Amino acid sequence: MQNPLEKAREYETLHKKDADPERPAFHLTPMVGWMNDPNGFSIYKDEYHLFYQYYPFDVHWGPTHWGHAKTKDFIKWEYLPCAIAPEHEYESNGCFSGSAIELEDGRQLLLYTGGSKGTDEKGRENQDLQQQCAAIGDGINFTKVENNPIIPVTDIPEGGNWLDFRDPKIYKEDGRYIVLLANRPDDGSGRVLMYESEDGLNWSYMGILDECHNEYGKIWECPDFFLLDGKWVLLGSPQEMVNDGLEFHPGYGTLTIIGQYNKGSLKFTREHLHAIDYGTDFYAPQTLETKDGRRIMIAWMMNWTNVSFQMPDIHYFSAMTLPRELHVRNGRLCQEPVKELEQYRINPVMVKDTSVKEETSFEQVKGRYLDLTVKVTPADTDEAKYEIFEMKIAKNDRFHTSILYDRKKGTITVDRTDSGVRFDIVHKREFYVADRDGCIDLRLIMDKDSMELFVNDGEQTHTGVIYTDLSAEDITFAADKEVKVDIESYTLEIDK
Ligand code: FRU
Repeated sequence: MQNPLEKAREYETLHKKDADPERPAFHLTPMVGWMNDPNGFSIYKDEYHLFYQYYPFDVHWGPTHWGHAKTKDFIKWEYLPCAIAPEHEYESNGCFSGSAIELEDGRQLLLYTGGSKGTDEKGRENQDLQQQCAAIGDGINFTKVENNPIIPVTDIPEGGNWLDFRDPKIYKEDGRYIVLLANRPDDGSGRVLMYESEDGLNWSYMGILDECHNEYGKIWECPDFFLLDGKWVLLGSPQEMVNDGLEFHPGYGTLTIIGQYNKGSLKFTREHLHAIDYGTDFYAPQTLETKDGRRIMIAWMMNWTNVSFQMPDIHYFSAMTLPRELHVRNGRLCQEPVKELEQYRINPVMVKDTSVKEETSFEQVKGRYLDLTVKVTPADTDEAKYEIFEMKIAKNDRFHTSILYDRKKGTITVDRTDSGVRFDIVHKREFYVADRDGCIDLRLIMDKDSMELFVNDGEQTHTGVIYTDLSAEDITFAADKEVKVDIESYTLEIDK
């Protein structure tokens, strides 16, 4: 019988040609088939590698493989052959999410979760167990280690279930490796466990970094943890979030916890807590630190709730977000597009200090491959303060997506109901933004069928897909009372 990895690689070779030619220009999509979480986002031999949850044979989830790509600048990606496939009993349900690191000896270590059938901690048979596995390679080919699973379910501390133990995120600290893992304790919620290792293969349990006690969702999938701008930041993707005002929506959410961390006692003290992204399509982010010390995050530009709503006749499904540089400012995790994107800007259009009230468009400020910055300033007189500023994007006579700033409420609402979408899913998200005396800064990145909005220097972001007619490319601006706008617009052109 053909080995599963060879089968996946052969399938890639045969089918990547018919995988839709009209891809996004600079967002990574799977070579063919299905993609979910980013995995193993890391530097290997001076290049940035990204693996991803991957099922090449269909546009729906199946026992996951790891797809693989690399980049020098986060914008142009080069596909590499499928990295790992489920081939052993301990990973028969799939090679789930994980991370990667370059070992001291120059080899590349992949840590992932192997899902398989077994007897759980309560003695129930035929359960879906999750255990941590390793594969070692040279940047292209990987060999699973002999003693997988290297962190078996029996290494889960007292009270943890064996069915939810996943998504190892490795990092190096003070000369040894640490791995974070999501696990579900007795109360049915989630906690983040830490293990340590000298060599990346032999691990011992350290303790609990944080636990959710059924608050902020249940299990926090795909945890990540790093020091940034003097604070420690814990990222997680909680399942089964309960709605909390405009901060957290129900279902699959995202969570940033900013705080202090004492390495000796493993005590993480929370200081600030908020969603990572307020959009409809953002999940399971992962970060790396670049050689020049920047913390870059990439996420799956999708959400489990929306995955069954697919366009007909597709050969690939979903994409990653644009990689974003992170900073902690005033208790918030702020995001901006990687600066490398700027090299790909052409056709600059500047509109300076111009009044807008009625719905207005500006020559050449349009498109679906776009980097657009709009700064709005009130032109207030005593009797006339503006309350609403609205941009319509991806617009034609019939369709548009709306970005609406409500100054009185202090919110932005993004609404794709009128984008031409044919599925009755969540199309609208509203979130709070800072009150800057009526001034608001919006940066919008568009790449064919996606929009990523960065508000007020990335204090809030909204990520969403808009499966709408590509000819809908107009942009208009309007306000209920006169405002001044400064617009900087570029087409993004990426030669492949
Ligand atoms: C998150 C997730 C992970 C898991 C993977 C499986 O989206 O559920 O927890 O490892 O997807 O594909």
